[in-house]
Amino acid sequence: MSSPANKILVTGGTGYVGGTVLDHLLKSTEASIRGLSFDLLVRGTEVAEKLKESYGNRVNPIQWAGLSDPDAIANIAANYDIIVNVGSGFVPAGAKAFVDGLARRVKPAAPKPWLLHIGGCTNLADRPLTQESFPDREWDDADGGAVYEFLRREDEREPYPQRTTEVGILTAAEEAGVQALSLNTPCIFGEGTGLFNKQGIIIPVLMRYVVGHGHGFKLTETSNFDWVHVEDLADVYVLLLRTILEREDRGVGYLPSGKTGIIFPAVGRALQTEIMQRCLDAAFDAGVLPREDTPKVKEIRQVPLQEIANEITAGLIDMAERGWAGNKAQKGTQARKLLEWNPTRLEAAWKQDFVDELNALKDGRRGITMESCVGKKP
Ligand SMILES: NC(=O)c1ccc[n+]([C@@H]2O[C@H](COP(=O)([O-])OP(=O)(O)OC[C@H]3O[C@@H](n4cnc5c(N)ncnc54)[C@H](OP(=O)(O)O)[C@@H]3O)[C@@H](O)[C@H]2O)c1
Repeated sequence: MSSPANKILVTGGTGYVGGTVLDHLLKSTEASIRGLSFDLLVRGTEVAEKLKESYGNRVNPIQWAGLSDPDAIANIAANYDIIVNVGSGFVPAGAKAFVDGLARRVKPAAPKPWLLHIGGCTNLADRPLTQESFPDREWDDADGGAVYEFLRREDEREPYPQRTTEVGILTAAEEAGVQALSLNTPCIFGEGTGLFNKQGIIIPVLMRYVVGHGHGFKLTETSNFDWVHVEDLADVYVLLLRTILEREDRGVGYLPSGKTGIIFPAVGRALQTEIMQRCLDAAFDAGVLPREDTPKVKEIRQVPLQEIANEITAGLIDMAERGWAGNKAQKGTQARKLLEWNPTRLEAAWKQDFVDELNALKDGRRGITMESCVGKKP
């Protein structure tokens, strides 16, 4: 049961990341977590029923209208000590409303409320096709303040919803005395362990492109992605929660928060062209490619940005450029140092993922689009 200082709300429980985070929280055998129940914001009675059937009284699904109703969100958020906000990170006003609600709990003698958020590495990316290129830039979360300042200035220059959201919650939290930390997350791979969406976005989308077209694509030679397995990422949220619950200071002053509150859960790094090559290798090795109407050798073609945006990033040209052309190198040191995070799905798991994703696509388990991830699913 939740004690008075650990009423916890989780968003995104139907998603790839959120479902896996919830699953890891519920499976945790740690003393600080194993007795807890989690309130979950969900849309739809079927979803709520399935969560109850599977997880019993460890979960309490609560219906909400979604991220488009800030007043309602703030009223809900005001009831919690800790919010794990791992649904879509692309709706700035909706996410800030969680901070506004938590701010109502900030009182001198009360435990400081926490918001644990998810952002994405495209927030850091350059736009080498339409703006200046920074192919050698690497950010280190050891200096979260510098990362925050960069994100804030970039977003002032050119707003990008996922970044506006991340900067918005960190800024509002700092001003309101709420503790807030964002995991600015690289490419997430591997099968999710939640009850609903178990598939990632980036590798499934690229694999589908390669199998559909018979060739890979590139927008630049230098575009890169760091990567993390979804279960290793979920472990970071578990460790963060444990830190807040187990430490005397509830992580206040220990975990970065507000204007320094950014952690990169990054494990490995790959060029976009290498990712394409791995998709091609998996498809050629399995005999899925070549087909009669596709190139007989493995080919990574230069393609126009607009074509890629239309086909794989819900028409969002800036997101396509940041994702598939941009540099967004992340050096993740804080999670290992502060949380003793020890990711276990390394190079071998990353390589295996391309084989697994091809099989999932062949089995019809990959019906993905970007719409839900970017908060555009009604
Ligand atoms: N996947 C990646 O590789 C990756 C990489 C970096 C960062 N991220 C970050 O992680 C976030 C979650 O990604 P994901 O892969 O877990 O996406 P996902 O599987 O598509 O899940 C999205 C979740 O957000 C919820 N949601 C979507 N639109 C909403 C809205 N308008 N109002 C309320 N809830 C809404 C969905 O709930 P319903 O079921 O109610 O629609 C679902 O629980 C992304 O936004 C992004 O910021 C992901």
